Amino acid sequence: MLEVREVTHTYAPSRRWRRSEKQDNVLSGVSLHIEEGTCLGLLGSSGAGKSTLGRVILGLEPPRAGQVLIQGQDLYKLSPQARRTLRRDLQVVFQDCYSAVNPRMTAEQIIGEPLSNYESLSVQEQKRAVGELLECVGLSAADMQKQPYQFSGGQLQRINIARAIALKPKLIVLDEAVSSLDMINGAKILRLLGELRAAFGLSYLFITHDIKAACMISDALAVMDQGRIVEYNDSKEQFLQSAHPAVRSLLDSMLAAHPRNRHRELADMPGASAQ
Ligand SMILES: Nc1ncnc2c1ncn2[C@@H]1O[C@H](COP(=O)(O)OP(=O)(O)O)[C@@H](O)[C@H]1O
Ligand SMILES: [Mg+2]
Repeated sequence: MLEVREVTHTYAPSRRWRRSEKQDNVLSGVSLHIEEGTCLGLLGSSGAGKSTLGRVILGLEPPRAGQVLIQGQDLYKLSPQARRTLRRDLQVVFQDCYSAVNPRMTAEQIIGEPLSNYESLSVQEQKRAVGELLECVGLSAADMQKQPYQFSGGQLQRINIARAIALKPKLIVLDEAVSSLDMINGAKILRLLGELRAAFGLSYLFITHDIKAACMISDALAVMDQGRIVEYNDSKEQFLQSAHPAVRSLLDSMLAAHPRNRHRELADMPGASAQ
């Protein structure tokens, strides 16, 4: 479904710093793949390059080197028309659900936006589609007329998810999508994401610094550190044994002190699909 090959990226130096020495790579030779209908959890501390990689995969940030292949097609080598067609299969949900939406729009307009951009539905058809999407994410069609301030954070993140699935995409990049929610709402959204994945055959890139959330939803786990993938494993057990300092420090920050308890904590988590 998705293959990232040897992607390297550097941001252009800002004007102010132009005369300073050369910029460090934000991404260095990053390779990974996501099979259809699976979820890759991408972990790493702040500044590791996770969001940058997400934007590269979404077609928003052309990398300095390397390739992004979506179903075998090189995203950055397509004609603008073909790229636009492919872009509808790639959607994103960000951490900050409030700034991701226009505060003056209604839920109907927010969720209807991708439909208006890509499909030519009648007003009635679009309304029905939006109502169904609201129900898909556990809200009601009657919520259509509400504006962002009338929803809680968890509800608004459901609106963002409804917008992301509106075009039945193939891949959704979830960039810290549950990180700002409390534990109960975060767990509910994770469950919803699991259900939607099964219902629509979605693939996810689940970006987070929260190792428990990643273990709950992911089939494989990768850890990024200073722009490199330093661990990549589809076995939770093996992942826990990793000796890499970046993995150890993530584990230390999240899990119980005793290794035996750590295993239990992770094994107990509902919906964990990695063995
Ligand atoms: N638009 C940008 N312009 C310049 N530097 C950026 C930009 N976005 C991110 N960076 C830098 O790139 C590095 C990686 O950032 P990011 O991809 O956001 O990491 P993460 O999501 O893992 O926290 C950081 O050092 C950050 O300051
Ligand atoms: Mg980030």
